[in-house]
Amino acid sequence: MNKIRLVLRVLILVFASILYIVTGENNEEASVPEKLIPTVRLKSGYEMPVLGFGTGKLGHRTTNATRKAINMGYRLIDTAKSYIAIPSVPSEMVIGKLIEDSGIPREEFFIVTKILPEYFTEEECRKAIQESLKFLRTSYIDLVLIHTPEYFDESGISDTEGTYIDGWKSLEMLVDEGVIRSIGISNFFKEEIIKIQEIAKHPISVLQNWFDPYFQDRMLRMECQYMGIVYMGYSTLGGVWLEDGIKPNPILNDEVITKIAAEHNRSPAEVVLKWAINQEVVVIPGSTKEEHLSNNLNSLNLELSEEETVQIVSLDGKLEPQYEDDVDYTPKSRDPIDFVREKITYLLSFVWPKVNTDVKSEL
Ligand SMILES: NC(=O)c1ccc[n+]([C@@H]2O[C@H](COP(=O)([O-])OP(=O)(O)OC[C@H]3O[C@@H](n4cnc5c(N)ncnc54)[C@H](OP(=O)(O)O)[C@@H]3O)[C@@H](O)[C@H]2O)c1
Repeated sequence: MNKIRLVLRVLILVFASILYIVTGENNEEASVPEKLIPTVRLKSGYEMPVLGFGTGKLGHRTTNATRKAINMGYRLIDTAKSYIAIPSVPSEMVIGKLIEDSGIPREEFFIVTKILPEYFTEEECRKAIQESLKFLRTSYIDLVLIHTPEYFDESGISDTEGTYIDGWKSLEMLVDEGVIRSIGISNFFKEEIIKIQEIAKHPISVLQNWFDPYFQDRMLRMECQYMGIVYMGYSTLGGVWLEDGIKPNPILNDEVITKIAAEHNRSPAEVVLKWAINQEVVVIPGSTKEEHLSNNLNSLNLELSEEETVQIVSLDGKLEPQYEDDVDYTPKSRDPIDFVREKITYLLSFVWPKVNTDVKSEL
């Protein structure tokens, strides 16, 4: 009998430890520095922080990392309808719950989400945004972006019902209804932006595109400045190169950047982010590490000289992007602990819907 009890206790202990690892629950108190992050005014008239937190690559780490980011003072949170925290739990759900639990007034946050081409028709777009409002536990979304202009099938023909022009009109309708404050686009080229400009009733407030020291998108950024569109960069710390399998991170290990960082006694990430903000690029680095989250905020109080700025500008084009056909899709080596955590989370998500957050059961 005692043996059975002992085995049961051990099993409970093991199960509780797994849940702790998986959910990462903790009771960190939020300590929020006021007005930490400067803002930029959008064409819609609303203010947006110049530095935010990207959740696109966090996966099962979304809960812990976003909670830390909120507690440290991040207020712009970038998500998308396609971002998933764990299977069957969209990132939007987790973010909505964390914002509500933070006790910080909703108006202090700036939430960005994105819709894919399958939501371009009026009906689908309305359904998608209503779902986002529910997941995010809010009556309005600060900024909604068209995630990408189109999908193509194998023969290169757009394979969705509506076009990005339909998508834009659908978003404008939801601005008129008061559930979206500002609208914008992502992964767009100049020609597509002009086509939207031609029919737009509401301004294009933001363009979110890939931007880092090796891929500076200079022409398009100049066009945006001219058109009054705020340029928001993604993967500014080298995310795209890492995805292409280039390791170690070429941006954060670049010799020009590491030298400037060493001279200021700062991290390379701080140098890159402050340089980007000085170029009028809004940045949304993602991170799972407290030290990195703190570094990224500290970038705001770093001063770079004109000479240092020019040195980083001259890094543009140092690596050539690899387009789909060139990318090596063979599986990359992974951290075994991450792998095990992901698998456990995945399995538990079927047997216990409260895994990671209790969001699902509350909806
Ligand atoms: N619109 C789109 O199509 C699109 C595409 C891609 C991304 N995005 C958005 O942009 C966000 C950012 O892009 P990203 O995640 O590709 O990459 P990123 O910002 O370039 O970051 C790359 C990696 O850098 C590490 N990092 C962050 N801060 C650091 C620091 N201070 N020192 C050292 N390393 C640091 C992070 O890993 P650690 O966890 O180790 O810190 C992160 O995984 C995404 O989360 C998403 O919201 C949008």
